[in-house]
Amino acid sequence: MFDVKAIRNDFPMFQNNKEFIYLDSSATSFKPQVVIDAVNDYYLNHSVNVHRGDYKLSYDTSVLYDGTKDVVARFINAKNAEEIIYTSGATASLNLVAFGYALNNLKKDDIILLTEAEHASNILPWFEVAKRKGAIIRYIPLDQDGYITEENLLKVLDEKVKICTFAEISNVMGKIQNTKMIASLVHKVGGVVAVDGAQSVPHKPTDVIDSDIDFLSFSSHKMLGPSGVGIFYGKYDLLKKMTPLYYGGDSNALFYRDGRFALKDIPTRFESGTPNIEGVLGLRAAIDYLSHIGMENIENYEKELTAYLHEKAKELDNIEVYNPNSDIGIFAFNVNGVFAQDVGGYLASCNIAVRSGTHCAKILPDVIKASETVRASLYFYNTKEEIDYLFEVLKDCDLDKCLGAIL
Ligand code: ALA
Repeated sequence: MFDVKAIRNDFPMFQNNKEFIYLDSSATSFKPQVVIDAVNDYYLNHSVNVHRGDYKLSYDTSVLYDGTKDVVARFINAKNAEEIIYTSGATASLNLVAFGYALNNLKKDDIILLTEAEHASNILPWFEVAKRKGAIIRYIPLDQDGYITEENLLKVLDEKVKICTFAEISNVMGKIQNTKMIASLVHKVGGVVAVDGAQSVPHKPTDVIDSDIDFLSFSSHKMLGPSGVGIFYGKYDLLKKMTPLYYGGDSNALFYRDGRFALKDIPTRFESGTPNIEGVLGLRAAIDYLSHIGMENIENYEKELTAYLHEKAKELDNIEVYNPNSDIGIFAFNVNGVFAQDVGGYLASCNIAVRSGTHCAKILPDVIKASETVRASLYFYNTKEEIDYLFEVLKDCDLDKCLGAIL
């Protein structure tokens, strides 16, 4: 049974900050004790490099570190660990798609399909690739919920589309995209599909074989793990068409003074330099923890919380909601007549942590017709009582209250 009270006991942040209502998990998640223990265990009992030492401790640490790829592969149902690359975060993974894959495989006038809801990290690399290659950015029209419908996708698909990339869950709209439908249609015209899973992998089961997507990027820190670690998944045949973004130690097999060199096999060739070992071991603990709870249970509970939140929102007439049909975890709104950041400040004065602004999705405001929004974002450790408190505070939130909190 899903027991949120028991779950909260696993997170020291809740014990140490009893009055704090954390509704900003799309920015980063709290960490359970098991993750903190795994990171500490590295520093207390390992503290050595991987892949380099001729001693047992280095070997044992390498086995744990490398073995985490099997854990990640199982978690997203990748065929095997060779399709998993460690990066420094979702941003680094998304840049690897753009500069490791697209830069080598796109040509002038090829089309890159995006949406206007993308986070900066899944737009700016594409602007740069388009500029360097003479490729063309085309946007998939979104419906009013930020959803990619089959009909809208078909309007922009043709054989010039070489890559289609989008967030499975936008960090502002909270709608779950149909990755399987999108991949199937894009594959029919010969394109590849790169999914930004930063906001989806932490919240629902992921199955890259079933969805048949080609690339997937996500971050550890949004799924209970440490910061500074990301995952890049790519189908093996596509990884063969990519070049690394970084060159250095561990990724090369040999090099000579005349400039000849050989890289190691995939995926090691993409991982130069001493990695974030403690971060990877923490991610492993996070995945074990999430898997123990069950991603389906997590998704179901978060959907229930989100539905509850939207019902409560209907009772208020002083707020405008921009994603009333969001599927999971994200609530974007404004209080009538009050600047989003002032609402954020007021909520902070009531011990509620949210994010306000454009949330790095700087084109989306044109679509939702709001320059900035307040975003409350949930995770499976949030409760209905916390949502009740949010609406209790929002109920009589107005300009005077917000400015009073700031001045
Ligand atoms: N991308 C993170 C967010 O949406 C930081 O807040």
